[in-house]
Amino acid sequence: MNKAFCEFFAGIGLVREGLVASGWSCIYANDINPKKQELYEKRFGSEGHFHLDDVWNSAGVLSRVPEPPFLATASFPCIDLSLAGHWRGFEGDHSSTFFGFTKVLDGMGGGRPKVVMLENVTGFITSKGGKDFESAALSLAELGYWVDAFVLDAKYFVPQSRPRVFVIGVHESFQTPLMVRRTENEWFSGGWTRNIERGKKLRPPNLRELMERVELPTGWAAVNIQPPIAEAVNVAELIDLDDDQAWWDEAAVTKHHDMMSDRHRKVVDEMLASKKQFTGTIYRRKREGKTRAEVRFDGLAGCLRTPKGGSARQIVIAIDEGHLRIRWMSPREYARLQGADDFPLVDNTIQNLHGFGDAVCVPVIRWIDENVLTPLFNSYSKLNGHAGQPGAGVATTNDSGCETPEHAA
Ligand SMILES: C[S@@+](CC[C@H](N)C(=O)[O-])C[C@H]1O[C@@H](n2cnc3c(N)ncnc32)[C@H](O)[C@@H]1O
Repeated sequence: MNKAFCEFFAGIGLVREGLVASGWSCIYANDINPKKQELYEKRFGSEGHFHLDDVWNSAGVLSRVPEPPFLATASFPCIDLSLAGHWRGFEGDHSSTFFGFTKVLDGMGGGRPKVVMLENVTGFITSKGGKDFESAALSLAELGYWVDAFVLDAKYFVPQSRPRVFVIGVHESFQTPLMVRRTENEWFSGGWTRNIERGKKLRPPNLRELMERVELPTGWAAVNIQPPIAEAVNVAELIDLDDDQAWWDEAAVTKHHDMMSDRHRKVVDEMLASKKQFTGTIYRRKREGKTRAEVRFDGLAGCLRTPKGGSARQIVIAIDEGHLRIRWMSPREYARLQGADDFPLVDNTIQNLHGFGDAVCVPVIRWIDENVLTPLFNSYSKLNGHAGQPGAGVATTNDSGCETPEHAA
């Protein structure tokens, strides 16, 4: 089997961006949004297998998947799993597209991917008191997957607080020592319990509670992972401070200074008085009916989101020798905060911000690839008598992850 994957809810393609480095080849990508497609194809080319369609159109989707992939990824919409979507959960039209994905998996029959990976906000664990997570895990299990899950925060790799839940499903037809299955004799052999215990910083109590309580027709499994070593730089290093940036005029700066709480304004005023240099971010938030400009100088930016009007958009604050400058964070800075520094942008700022605000963080995907996905692929290759990667049976890819013409022919 080739080291090939299908990317569902592909957006601008940052899952692919994270996977191509280790030789994964994307054979199919699906998303419904033409503006995301434009960004995706700017990076991966129009021959990059992007299929613009509703995931619920499973017949159309299946007709475009050229061969059974080893891996399928799905970072399905998060809005209904958050306050912004009124916690509608799987009753909402957006997040319930997850079941469009499982319908496609179902339609793949014997060609179902050996491994699936879901990605979503941490509200996925808590939505409807855990019921939505439970029904997602059950759907995967009914399709033959053993299920593991963990929470990984982008802040280990980039200066952005962005915790996300990842669910890994490994098909029952692929039995590997890397994905330790929970057994009825856990109290005795305890391999699953040991992996859960070792990785407990990545599996918070509410997630562990679900994994212990919910019964699946397959079962829960656990990979052996521990938190990454933090390597993120300070957000100040990703911010452009030159005068060519679109810094706001004095009236807008004063307005935001006035919008700060007394405590935050005091911090800013002390920084101004010190005549030193500080760079941080501002996020506008409603607090007790008032819009507040909340500053942070802890070296991290808050979680990037899709911009709605002026809210939910990150703002840059720079203090230099008593001088205060403020502006919107630029699309290039959004790209850097997602670990996609050189990703090509389009001319439309909001389209760029929307694309990156919704996306996964590239080094997070790379870490999961190095620690989970590629080891699983190599284990499968070994069990089936092939060399792992690179080597026999592995698709040759160029640096954008497209199959080379010789291979595709
Ligand atoms: C959280 S974003 C995924 C972002 C992506 N992982 C990235 O890195 O850019 C969810 C995506 O689901 C897409 N989507 C929403 N409804 C869909 C549907 N019915 N069919 C296919 N895609 C859909 C949205 O357009 C959006 O790009």
